Amino acid sequence: MDYQVIIPAAGSGKRMGAGRNKLFIEVTGKPVILHTLDVFASDLYCKKIILAVQPNDENHFKDILAGHPGNGKIDFVYGGHERQHSVYNGLKAASGEIILVHDGARPFIRQHTISRLVQSAHDNGAAIAAVPVKDTIKRADQNQVVETVDRLGLWQIQTPQAFRLPILIRAHEQAIEQDYLGTDEASLVEKVGLPVMIIESDYDNIKLTTPEDLYFAEAILAKRKN
Ligand code: C5P
Repeated sequence: MDYQVIIPAAGSGKRMGAGRNKLFIEVTGKPVILHTLDVFASDLYCKKIILAVQPNDENHFKDILAGHPGNGKIDFVYGGHERQHSVYNGLKAASGEIILVHDGARPFIRQHTISRLVQSAHDNGAAIAAVPVKDTIKRADQNQVVETVDRLGLWQIQTPQAFRLPILIRAHEQAIEQDYLGTDEASLVEKVGLPVMIIESDYDNIKLTTPEDLYFAEAILAKRKN
């Protein structure tokens, strides 16, 4: 089933501390953003890639994307102050039935997860990639433990997140009306009161956030080459 994908890529990468957009950092000699785009470039069902970038980064993105197989289906939009604003700007350029949102900083998403998300969004309206929580989770007040949270039924949420396009538009419009800022798209859809399905993904679909994530990224790629 055909879909389009919005890739927010307009962050400042503060927590990575690289002094530039972390999506330009090279992992095994290739910028993070190209790793992220590879799977969408080669997926014939992916009809458009909407890349949300900061105006200052636009030319550099265009330089490194020259010659990339996904280049022909990329549309650039400008990012906003928060990730949610960047996604909303991307939504204005979206069309078709199914829209995915996938962080530029999450380069290891697998094709089979994407197709399951697209199918579930078609059937149910909204579907998100996630893995079961592995660690023991406690709630604390300052540094003192208040309680141990039952891990059963807790999921660690990733991207991609997939939606029927009118649902995501409605969710974003309501978030604007209510001045609500969520940490993912699904939380906006939940606020509208619509169901969101979970598609179990892989633990190695990590987001590159802090410097040590780059070591994990090198290790994941080395393992995939074997
Ligand atoms: O900072 P974090 O890693 O959580 O950001 C997730 C994704 O959202 C990154 O790919 C980043 O480039 C993007 N982003 C954005 N616009 C912002 C902030 C982050 O497109 N204002």
